[in-house]
Amino acid sequence: MKLADCSSLRRNQICRGDFGDVERVITKRKAAGEGICRRRARRRVAASSSAIQTLFLACKSIFSGPPTVPSPADVRMIRNIVDMMTSEDVDLSPEIPFFKAKTAVGGAPGVSYTTIYQSSNFSICIFFLRPAAVIPLHDHPGMTVFSKLLLGSMHVRAYDFVDTLHLTSDAPPQEGRRRRLAKLTVDTELTAPCATSVLFPETGGNIHTFTAITPCAVLDIMGPPYSAQDGRDITYYKDLPFSDGEVGGERKEGKYWWLEETDMPEEAVLAPVTYLGPPVVDV
Ligand SMILES: [Fe+2]
Repeated sequence: MKLADCSSLRRNQICRGDFGDVERVITKRKAAGEGICRRRARRRVAASSSAIQTLFLACKSIFSGPPTVPSPADVRMIRNIVDMMTSEDVDLSPEIPFFKAKTAVGGAPGVSYTTIYQSSNFSICIFFLRPAAVIPLHDHPGMTVFSKLLLGSMHVRAYDFVDTLHLTSDAPPQEGRRRRLAKLTVDTELTAPCATSVLFPETGGNIHTFTAITPCAVLDIMGPPYSAQDGRDITYYKDLPFSDGEVGGERKEGKYWWLEETDMPEEAVLAPVTYLGPPVVDV
C-alpha cells in the first residue's frame, strides 16, 4: 500500500497489517453482549460527544467540495479543534510496547496507518512510525493538510516550490526527471504535545518528510485526499543542494534546494491497521 492509497480505504474495508505491536496501539472498546440497535444507539451518543466526531463534523461542513482551500476562519476552526486533541481522543495509549520501544522491532523500520474516515472530500488518518522510520519526501497537490503529532518525537523537513525563478545552473537532472527549485520552510524537531501544523497547495511546506526519533503517531486531515483521476496523485522527491547560493541577489545556501522527482521509495510502502478508537458517525 503506497502513501497516496492510505485514504482510499474506507473504515470498514481496512484489513489487518503485519505490524503486531501497532495493531494494539488503539484500545478495543467493549461491544460484546449488546443488541445491534442498542449498540448503534450507544455509538451515536458516544460519537456525538467525542473530539473525533467534532472534528469530523467540522471537516464535513468545510470540505464540502468542489476542492477549494478553506478560508482563514475555517482553517482556524479546524486548527483549534485539532490543537485540543490528544492521543486519548483516539484511544492511543503511550503505555503499550510500541510507544515504549527504543529501537525498531523485528528488523527494518516501518510506517503503518489507520483510516478513521475517508470520502472524496476529505480524509482523517493516523500514521504510526517506528523509531528511525521515514515517511519519504512527497507532495500534496491541491491539498490542505492538518497534521498533529499525538505521541513521540520526530524530525520534519518541508519545502515549497519557487516557481518564479528560472535557473539553469547546477547539475542537470537525471534524464526524464523533473527538477524544481524549492525553499526550505520547515526543518525542526517536534515532540508531542505540540501545535497543529497546516500546509496549503502553495505554502506552509507542501512537500514534506517525517523521520521518527522515537515511536510516533501523527493525526492527518487531508482535504481533499489524493486522487489520481482528479489530478492529485502523489509524487516523491529527493532533495539536492542548490549550490549557486544566490536567489534574488541574496545568498541563500541551505534555504533553497532542488527537488527532483523519484520513483516511489521502498519506505513509502505502508501497512494498514484497524481503527478501533471512538467511531465517526456520518449523520
Ligand atoms: Fe504528507
